[in-house]
Amino acid sequence: MSFPNVRMRRLRRTEAMRTMLNQIRIQPSNLIYPVFVDEALSEPEHITAMPGYFRCPLDQVIQEGQTALEQGIKSILLFGIPAEKNESGSGAYAKDGIIQQATRKLKDHFKDELIIMADVCLCEYINHGHCGIIKDGDIQNDKTLELLGKTAVSQAAAGVDIVAPSAMMDGQVGAIREALDEADFDQTAILAYSAKYASSFFGPFREAADSAPRFGNRKTYQMNPGGVKEALREIELDINEGADMVMVKPALAYLDILSLAKTTFDVPIVAYNTSGEYSLVRAAALNGWVDEQAVIHEILTSIKRAGADMIITYHAKNVNAWLNYT
Ligand code: PBG
Ligand code: ZN
Repeated sequence: MSFPNVRMRRLRRTEAMRTMLNQIRIQPSNLIYPVFVDEALSEPEHITAMPGYFRCPLDQVIQEGQTALEQGIKSILLFGIPAEKNESGSGAYAKDGIIQQATRKLKDHFKDELIIMADVCLCEYINHGHCGIIKDGDIQNDKTLELLGKTAVSQAAAGVDIVAPSAMMDGQVGAIREALDEADFDQTAILAYSAKYASSFFGPFREAADSAPRFGNRKTYQMNPGGVKEALREIELDINEGADMVMVKPALAYLDILSLAKTTFDVPIVAYNTSGEYSLVRAAALNGWVDEQAVIHEILTSIKRAGADMIITYHAKNVNAWLNYT
C-alpha cells in the first residue's frame, strides 16, 4: 500500500484528530522543580545567567513548595548555597546546614504532600569548588564517599525523601545506601546522577550556586561527551549499588543516551534539563527570536519521547504557561 491509497495527512486534518492521536503527554506530576536555597539571603536574588530564576532565602521555601503544588508538581529538588564554604565542605552534612533547615521547614509544613529531593555533593560547600575532597591536587575518591554518606544521612534525618548524589565518585551510590541503612533510613530512596557528562551546559548553575571549580575542570569524574557504552556501565553499576532511579544529564544533547537507557533498564529514568538548556531558551525568547512556550513544550516532549519518565526542569516553575501549548 502506498500513495494514493495511503494518505498520511488524513489523520492530521483537525486539531481534535491530532490531539486524539498524540502519544506523548507531559504531566506536571512527572516534573521535578529545582530550588536554590541561599543561607545568606533575606530577599530572593536574581540569577543573572538564568533570567527569571532566583536564589531563594530560607524564609521563602514554603512559597516555592506552594508554587510547585499549585501546578500539580509533586517534588522539588533542593540545592543549598551555604553562607560560608570551607575545606571539608562541612555545610553539606551539618545538622543545621541550609538544605537540612529548608527540608525541616518544608516537611513540617507540607508533610508527605510534597516530595523533597536533595542534591548530594560537596562542590557548593567546599572552597575549591570540586565535587570531592582534594589532596595534592587530586580528588580523593574513597575519602569523599564517607562525606557523601554523611551528607545523605543528615539530609534523611532532616526529612529528605529522595537523595540525589551528583558527585560522580565511583561507589557513591553503594556508600550512600550503606550509610542510610546503617542509620535506619532504609526508606530513603536514591536518585543517582548516573550518566552525568562533563558538560558546558552546567555553566549557569555554577553561577547560581557559586560552585565552579576554582582550578581545573570536572573531566576526571564526569563523563566524556563522546562516551556511549560508558553511560550504560555507569547506570548498571548504580543500579547494582542500590539506586532506585537513575539519571541522564544533560538531557537535550544526550537524547540518544536517554533512549538507550530506557530500552536497556527497568528502573525509572530521570532526565535533567539543565541550567544551560534553560538559559539558551530564555535568551532566545527574550530577544524575540523563538516562541518560548512552543519551544519549551517541544523540548520537553522530545525528552519524554526519548525515554524520560521524569524530568528535572527549571521550566517547571511556569508549567501552566506552556503545558497545553499546541
Ligand atoms: C553539583 C551539580 C551540578 C548540577 C547539578 N548538581 C553542577 C556541576 O556538576 O558542575 C548542574 C545542574 C544544572 O546545570 O542545571 N555537582
Ligand atoms: Zn558537585
